[in-house]
Amino acid sequence: MKSYEHLYIDGHWVKPVLGGTFPTIDPSNETLLAQVAAATAADIDLAVKAARKAFDEGPWPQTTGAQRAVVLRRIAAGIRERLDTLAALEVQDNGKPFPEAQWDIGDTAGCFDFYADLAEGLDTRQEQTVPLADERFSCIARKEPMGVAGAIIPWNFPMLMAAWKVAPALAAGCCMVLKPSELTPLTALELANIAHEAGLPAGVLNVVTGLGPDAGAPLSEHPGIDKLAFTGSVPTGAKIMQAAARDIKNISLELGGKSPFIIFDDSDIEAAVEWIMFGIFWNQGEVCSATSRVLVQRGLYEPLLKRLVEETRTLSIGHGMKEGVLLGPLVNSTQYDKILQAVARGQEEGATLLYGGTRPADCNIGYFLTPAIFADVPVNSWIWNEEIFGPVVCVRPFDDEAEALKSANDSRFGLAAAVMSKDLVRAERVARRLRAGIVWVNCSQPTFTEAPWGGYKQSGIGRELGEWGLNNYLETKQITRYDSDQPWGWYIK
Ligand code: NAI
Ligand code: MG
Repeated sequence: MKSYEHLYIDGHWVKPVLGGTFPTIDPSNETLLAQVAAATAADIDLAVKAARKAFDEGPWPQTTGAQRAVVLRRIAAGIRERLDTLAALEVQDNGKPFPEAQWDIGDTAGCFDFYADLAEGLDTRQEQTVPLADERFSCIARKEPMGVAGAIIPWNFPMLMAAWKVAPALAAGCCMVLKPSELTPLTALELANIAHEAGLPAGVLNVVTGLGPDAGAPLSEHPGIDKLAFTGSVPTGAKIMQAAARDIKNISLELGGKSPFIIFDDSDIEAAVEWIMFGIFWNQGEVCSATSRVLVQRGLYEPLLKRLVEETRTLSIGHGMKEGVLLGPLVNSTQYDKILQAVARGQEEGATLLYGGTRPADCNIGYFLTPAIFADVPVNSWIWNEEIFGPVVCVRPFDDEAEALKSANDSRFGLAAAVMSKDLVRAERVARRLRAGIVWVNCSQPTFTEAPWGGYKQSGIGRELGEWGLNNYLETKQITRYDSDQPWGWYIK
């Protein structure tokens, strides 16, 4: 078994100060995968100080974007060289099917390449002249790295979620302390290895594994951090926000969702079934943007449910490395129990369980679950309103557009939404009225590094990816110069 008992701080692999470890398990067989270094406040302090030193003393923040791009592209290449190994590690730690893990790791490399291009672009776009009405002055607005960033990430796309924060932060010239989820910490440690080999200077990226309260909380509270970037649950997001409030840290939060999918009755039934399934069963439904609330127009409701159940029955569930598997195990026992409870609760609340929500007959071990379909879900029920974060879809009928929109927008979340109709004018109209940061038309879930990602309402603050992601890690400074040869003449005439 490879050792993961060290933290990556200031360019070195070091044991935690208190010497602790925590286990990460393989959710397909519930066995120990590795003992992992458990950071505590003392390690976080060392990591933040290393990042602080790398930022304050340079040279990373003063390098050109083109110089940073060279390192970012080497990281991308290092990830691609090990794509299958990293994907297999992700399968072991998270459970997801291997082809999905390969997709994630490819996307992870792509994210570093994308931000390499943006780093280069910064060299010519970093400064802009600001015309001033008073001609005695000249002014430029200049983008500068924000400082030391702390990133706290979840377990559903372990390496990709690291890249969404590390790549733009490094491209901007920031230094960073990254804390992966304790459920899936291994690929973040591999990323540290790859960044080290790519020649990233010591202290620019530090990777500290540990539990939320022991390592995440001290990171969010540390006065040496200028910016916090978080993806995860709403309650933890609120704690991060409170910690940030103490010394006014800049924050970006990507939190949960209960995203609606409106399907009009002119839709192609096969396309609707496929996108509903991709929208909630992909990655075992452990997806923040999953379209978990489906609204189907009355005329299509019964036939669509019938086809949805037929297709869902055929989904192959099993070990992520097994050929043809489309659903792996859920990430751990807590998530597994939470979802079993949600299924029970839905039934108590009067929703009709059409299929699934149980342990598959041939699986005695591992957190495997048959994907669940609930129909006629009451609007006031817990399962209609709260994030389940598993392969559980809730379906309801609707009669007209206004009713569908009202129901879709009636949520405290606003991460994503989807609409399907052959009438593109109607689809566009609905897309504009949906209160969500990401709206898919005639599809659900495809995600692009170039496009803004983030939520309305309680689904978060700020946007990641694209140029928005880079701006998360940039401050804007004005430099104003007095150019006149005449005295100012306010006090001294
Ligand atoms: P979580 O939000 O508690 O964990 C996410 C990250 O925050 C992890 O790295 C964790 O160590 C860290 N963390 C936990 N407590 C912290 C604290 N007090 N201070 C700083 N960092 C802390 O989510 P968890 O427990 O893994 O999952 C619970 C639920 O959250 C899921 O059932 C799901 O509904 C939701 N979730 C949403 C995600 C999303 O992408 N929006 C991702 C993961 C979970
Ligand atoms: Mg694990």
